[in-house]
Amino acid sequence: MQIIHRVAELRARLAREESIAFVPTMGNLHEGHLDLVRRARERGTCVVVSIFVNPLQFGPNEDFDSYPRTLEADCAKLQELADVVFAPSVAGMYSEKQTLFVEPPPIANELCGAFRPGHFRGMATVVLKLLNLVQPQVALFGKKDYQQLAIIRQMVSQFNLPVTLVGGETVRAADGLALSSRNQYLSPAERTEAPFLYQTLANAADALHAGDKDHAAIEQKAAQALASHGWQVEYVSIRAQAGLGKPQPGERALVILAAARLGAPRLIDNIEVCL
Ligand code: PAJ
Repeated sequence: MQIIHRVAELRARLAREESIAFVPTMGNLHEGHLDLVRRARERGTCVVVSIFVNPLQFGPNEDFDSYPRTLEADCAKLQELADVVFAPSVAGMYSEKQTLFVEPPPIANELCGAFRPGHFRGMATVVLKLLNLVQPQVALFGKKDYQQLAIIRQMVSQFNLPVTLVGGETVRAADGLALSSRNQYLSPAERTEAPFLYQTLANAADALHAGDKDHAAIEQKAAQALASHGWQVEYVSIRAQAGLGKPQPGERALVILAAARLGAPRLIDNIEVCL
C-alpha cells in the first residue's frame, strides 16, 4: 500500500490503472469505512481510499478543528485492504482558492441541510474534486449518510460523471448504534443511551410495516419518544428512498431518517422500509 500526499503524485500513480474502486473518507476509520473498502476490492483491481477532513463542509461552529485525525492508525488498518491512500493537505486540495462550488439540489436544504447550512455544498464540491482527481470506475459511499449519498447520486447523474456509485449498508455496533467517528464524543452514559435512536427508528419502521399510513403521527411519536429520553430532536422524517422527497400516496420504497443531539454530540441514523 502506498501513501500519497500530493495531487501530481496521485495522478502519476493512477494514470495507467484501468479499474479503480474509490472510497472517500475523512479518516478516523472504523468498521463502517473498512466494510466499504472491502467491498471496493470486489469492484476494482486498484483500491484507492482518500483521507481528507474537508474544511468546506464544516460550519463555523462545527468540529473541524477537533475532528479526530489519526492518519497513522488509519493507514495501519488499510495496509492489507487498499492499494493507495490519498491524504492531501488542505493547501494541496485547495491550492487555488475555491471560488467555484457545486450548487446542490433543493433537497440539500432539508433534513440535515436545514441544520447544517452549506454542508452539502462543501461536501459535493470536494467529492467532485476527488472524483476528478482519482477518476475511478466505481465509488462507494455508506447509506449511514443517506442524504449525502442521495445528493451525490444526483450530482453524478446530472453532471454525467463517468462513475458507478455503490451504496454500502450501515455497519452497527452489537447494540444497534450506527458506527461513526463522532461516537467517541459520547460520554459513557450517552453511549449507553445512544442505541435508542436506532430502536426508535425500528419502532417507526414496524408501524409502517404494520400498515400505518399516518406518516406525520409516526414521525411525531418517534420524536416524542426521543425527547422523553432527553434527546434534542432535529428531525424524524419519512421520505421516498429515490430523491428523498415527501412520499407520494402508495410509495413503497421509503426511508425513515433522524438526527438528534444527546448532549453536545449529534447523531444521525436511518432505516430503509420497503412495503
Ligand atoms: P466519513 O464520515 O469519513 O465517511 C466516509 C464514508 O463512510 C461515507 O460514505 C460514509 O457514509 C461511510 N460510513 C460512515 N459510517 C458508516 C457506517 N457506520 N456504515 C457504513 N458506512 C459508513 O462522509 C464523509 O466522510 C465525507 O462527507 C466525504 C464523503 C468523505 C466527503 O468529505
